[in-house]
Amino acid sequence: MPRIAVYSGSFDPITNGHIDIIRRASRVFDHVIVAIANNSSKTATFSVAERLRMIEIAIRDIPGADVDSFEGLLVDYLKRKNARVVIRGIRAVSDMDYEFQMASMNRQLYPEMETVFMMPDENYTYLSSSMIKEVARLGAKPGDYLPATVLQMLKKKLSARKGFAKPSRAKSASSKKRSR
Ligand code: COA
Repeated sequence: MPRIAVYSGSFDPITNGHIDIIRRASRVFDHVIVAIANNSSKTATFSVAERLRMIEIAIRDIPGADVDSFEGLLVDYLKRKNARVVIRGIRAVSDMDYEFQMASMNRQLYPEMETVFMMPDENYTYLSSSMIKEVARLGAKPGDYLPATVLQMLKKKLSARKGFAKPSRAKSASSKKRSR
C-alpha cells in the first residue's frame, strides 16, 4: 500500500516555507498531495486555478508530489483519496493551539486518520502568505521567500491592482494563530 499524505491549506500563495514542508514530507511518504482548500473563509488573492498552476510549477521537481483542490471537509477528501495522513507545518509553538483543535476535530470526524506535524527550516519560521503579500504590496522584495513563478504572478497581480485582497492577517504567525 503506498503511503499517501495530504498537505492541505489555503496556499494563497504558496511560499518557500510550504515547499520546504512538501520536500520533507516527500522523503517520508510515497505520495504527497498538496490540497488547496476551496472553501476557506479567507478572501483569496489568487483564484484556485491560479494556485493550482503556481503550485504545479513550484513542486514539479519534488518526487511523488502533486497538487489538487477540494471543497467541503478535509476528512471527506482524505477518504476519497484513500489517504489517512494529514501533514501540517508547525512554525512556532504558538501554532499548536489552533493546530491541536483542528487535528482533534478531524480525528473526531475520521478516527482512522492521523495528523503529522513537520517543522520547516528555521528561515521560514515567521513566514506566512499574508505577510509576504503585505511586504510585496509595500514595495519590499519577497524574492527569498517565494518560488520564481509565484513571485512573477504576485508582481503581475500587484501591478494590475485588481482583485488584490487586503491581507486578512498580516501579523506574525504567533499572534495570528492566537487570535483565531
Ligand atoms: N511556511 C509558510 N507559511 C506557512 C507554513 C509554512 N510552513 N505553514 C503555515 N503557513 C501559513 C500559511 O501561509 C497561512 O498564512 P496566512 O494566514 O497568512 O494565509 C497560515 O499559516 C495558515 O495556514 P493554512 O495551512 O493555509 O491554514 P488555513 O487555516 O488557512 O487552512 C485548512 C486550514 C484549509 C487546512 C482547514 O481550514 C481545512 O481543512 N479546511 C477544509 C474544511 C474542513 O475540513 N474544516 C474542518 C477542519 S477541522
